[in-house]
Amino acid sequence: MNNLHRTVLEDAHHMSTSLHKGDEVILKIDSLAFGGLGVARLQDRVVFVDKALPGQTVRARIFKLKKKFAQARILEIVKQSPFYQKPRCTHFGACGGCSIQHLDYIQQLHFKEQQVRESLEHLGGFQNIPLKPILASPESFSYRNKMEFSFSPHRWLSNEEMIKNRPEKKELYLGLHAKNFYNKVVDIQQCHLVAAQTNDILRVTREFAAQTGLPAYDSKQHIGFWRFLVVRHSKNINNLMVNLVTFDYNPKVAKNFKKLMTATFPQITSLLYSTTQNISGLAYGEKEYVLAGNHLIEEKLADYRFEISSNSFFQTNTLQTENLYQIVVELAAIQPEQVVYDLFCGAGTISIFASRLAHRVVGFEIVPDAVDDAIRNARKNNINNCDFLVSDLRTFAKDWQQPLQRYGKPAIMIIDPPRGGMHPKTIDAILELEPPCIIHVSCNPTTLARDLKILCEQKYYLQTVQPVDMFPHTHHIEVVVKLLLINNQ
Ligand SMILES: C[S@@+](CC[C@H](N)C(=O)[O-])C[C@H]1O[C@@H](n2cnc3c(N)ncnc32)[C@H](O)[C@@H]1O
Repeated sequence: MNNLHRTVLEDAHHMSTSLHKGDEVILKIDSLAFGGLGVARLQDRVVFVDKALPGQTVRARIFKLKKKFAQARILEIVKQSPFYQKPRCTHFGACGGCSIQHLDYIQQLHFKEQQVRESLEHLGGFQNIPLKPILASPESFSYRNKMEFSFSPHRWLSNEEMIKNRPEKKELYLGLHAKNFYNKVVDIQQCHLVAAQTNDILRVTREFAAQTGLPAYDSKQHIGFWRFLVVRHSKNINNLMVNLVTFDYNPKVAKNFKKLMTATFPQITSLLYSTTQNISGLAYGEKEYVLAGNHLIEEKLADYRFEISSNSFFQTNTLQTENLYQIVVELAAIQPEQVVYDLFCGAGTISIFASRLAHRVVGFEIVPDAVDDAIRNARKNNINNCDFLVSDLRTFAKDWQQPLQRYGKPAIMIIDPPRGGMHPKTIDAILELEPPCIIHVSCNPTTLARDLKILCEQKYYLQTVQPVDMFPHTHHIEVVVKLLLINNQ
């Protein structure tokens, strides 16, 4: 029989036929995997189903088959999940941004918490995890203070859009990357994760760029002019930064963009024009021109004010960031005589939150602009017990010499690496330095589990695991972990 016409109806416990690629199967989805895929069990395999929700029964086609797992695409929802909610966004399903907007928010939290537990158990080898309930985000829509939109000559259309509208082909699109397509964008009309004015800026910039006739950058061919539009907004102070990023500097574009933006959006406090010839796909300006206003944006968190330059990292969910930092400081339980090292410190935000409790805080960060921001931010908040060093933490052991001689070993180390986690050499250096307490902040439970496994196989144990939802409707999860040194003398 042709595989394409086979339907496997047996459930996991009553297997009678073996599975083939192309089979149609009936699946009961019982949980959600990290990454936002629905999980079902069939025969001896785990089946991952894109866009499927726990509680659904679906008819799906197997498109990938391995010994222990399979992947399937939904053909039909046979029974809807009680947790389903209609997605607000018309781009849902196509856009790589929100993958679980169709799941009730309380259930999003439940499954994120479960995913943290599973990552630590399966990838980290931990048992009896001291996991606290996940902290919900104060806002579940319009919570992002920054969005990086990409230009592309290639647009991604969902099947529905292809059938319904068949929109005419244009030369330039501006939006967010389509799921699994780094060179195609979804031409976003309205994103519900950002403020309304960000969507207006997006639309006006797209029209402006299209009228110039200059080409959008093709990230496969590496040719073209228009690259990114970055909009950053400070919620508590209401500053607004717009950064247009192109391949090279075009004075006519700069002049006309300035004229248009300052007239249309007088609320912009920082209008920047940057260029980058980097092929990495990162919206990082190599050269920056200030067209109007300040080159920085200002934000307030708790009682502190921060200035952030365009290339510096700043947590994207402003209101939840205050909670996140509060958790970090409370878990650290810093004593007045203690020295704290803040690894991957960005613009010095956590260091500054910790500074009022500590004897001294030393921040380490690779981006020089972020270190400049951190130094200026400490000064701005009248804090004089923080030092910040430009440091590539892959060679951490080289950079800790000077603070070690001046202030001694850290009693507490705060670590907040990027999504990929820590380099093995950074972990080795931490194990050599042996801080009695580590507060590990992570935005990726899988790399977190990998790194914690190494730390805990050798010298540490998990004291507290606190998930924090910084990214509602997306599959991303933030976690704060407190580790203590075993046999601390
Ligand atoms: C997740 S952010 C955390 C920033 C800061 N803790 C905060 O809450 O705003 C990670 C930071 O690590 C920095 N970074 C990435 N790779 C690094 C490296 N090899 N050495 C030092 N810093 C690095 C990034 O520039 C970024 O500022």
